[in-house]
Amino acid sequence: MKGLILSGGKGTRLRPFTYTGTKQLVPVANKPVLFYAIEDLVEAGISNIGIIISPETGEQVKAAVGDGARFGARVDYILQDAPKGIAHGVKIARDYVGADKFILFLGDNFIRDGIVPQVNAFRDGAMNAQIILYKLDDPSSMGVAILDGDGRVTRLVEKPKQFVSPYGVIGIYMFDHNVFEAVNAIKPSARGELEITDTIQYLIDQKLNVRAHLLTGGWIDTGKMADILEANRLVLDVLVAKNEGQVDSASVIEGRVTLQPGAVVVNSTIRGPAIIGERTRIENAYVGPYTSIYHDCQLRNCEIENSVVLEQSAIVDAPARIADSLIGRHTEIARAGGRTKTLKMMIGDYSKVGI
Ligand code: DAU
Repeated sequence: MKGLILSGGKGTRLRPFTYTGTKQLVPVANKPVLFYAIEDLVEAGISNIGIIISPETGEQVKAAVGDGARFGARVDYILQDAPKGIAHGVKIARDYVGADKFILFLGDNFIRDGIVPQVNAFRDGAMNAQIILYKLDDPSSMGVAILDGDGRVTRLVEKPKQFVSPYGVIGIYMFDHNVFEAVNAIKPSARGELEITDTIQYLIDQKLNVRAHLLTGGWIDTGKMADILEANRLVLDVLVAKNEGQVDSASVIEGRVTLQPGAVVVNSTIRGPAIIGERTRIENAYVGPYTSIYHDCQLRNCEIENSVVLEQSAIVDAPARIADSLIGRHTEIARAGGRTKTLKMMIGDYSKVGI
């Protein structure tokens, strides 16, 4: 069985980060979200993995993942010329997948407890497809499944405008070869994409055996900023403390804190769960719970909690505590010179700042 991860697309919802960075490479607890998908597949015994990439962000994905050896996998790349839909990604992977069953994993989906039981059930069972459902009060931003009294999926609706069911379909799907007939049969939707929901609906209409598994553990589509912070909290909740950096005697480390190699903490308090990235320097600062500071950052004379800071950013002399924030790559936050009540900023398009 092979794995197919979709890491193309436009990623418009996570602007401005995705102007220059790939949304699937945004770190969750200092690890790109895409890496969790690869690790989940490897853990489920799937070591041949194809990654769908786009012309815009494909090189960044290749540079980060490489040939897969560091994950114990073999990774091949499949270029999708434009984001024509998830089912289009499946269509162009036909030669790669061959006749085997396979797992389709959307590269921005994060599942806390992995996929081993679901993959085992699919591998051993007589299903043609398996989808995973997650119960939500409002699943209107997802594909939604309607079930009959026996728990069988009867209908799927992509992003319904009105409430039809609480069961959102998460971005991890399992298929056999029948899916290739389906992706060739369906037509583009109103938004011009070949939809995965229409693909699964086709399989249901053909009376094939499509089963649903109801997920009880944590799942997040990391497409929005609040979702990244939530995924970050989920991972930090089970973080194992590890100190591979340096801490001076004036500093206090409380709770579960991981310092990655080359991290330096000087005269500061770090209250876990928190992770400090490689070569990052924390000086005269407070880093509070549920914070991930990525590699090569500088924090000095500042306080921060429940936040994610991306690589090579600096926060210096911040006059107020920073909380609940996602701070992009190569960013500088510093006290402005001149008049005390002046805010001096250079903020990218589509940013959000709370003052
Ligand atoms: O997260 C689960 C949801 O994912 C499902 O409930 C929906 O039924 C499904 O359509 C999908 O909805 P999204 O609107 O979240 O899909 P998005 O456009 O964000 O794409 C998901 C991933 O697939 C993302 O990592 C980008 C990648 N992708 C997407 C498209 C449209 C591609 O690689 N190629 C594409 O053409």
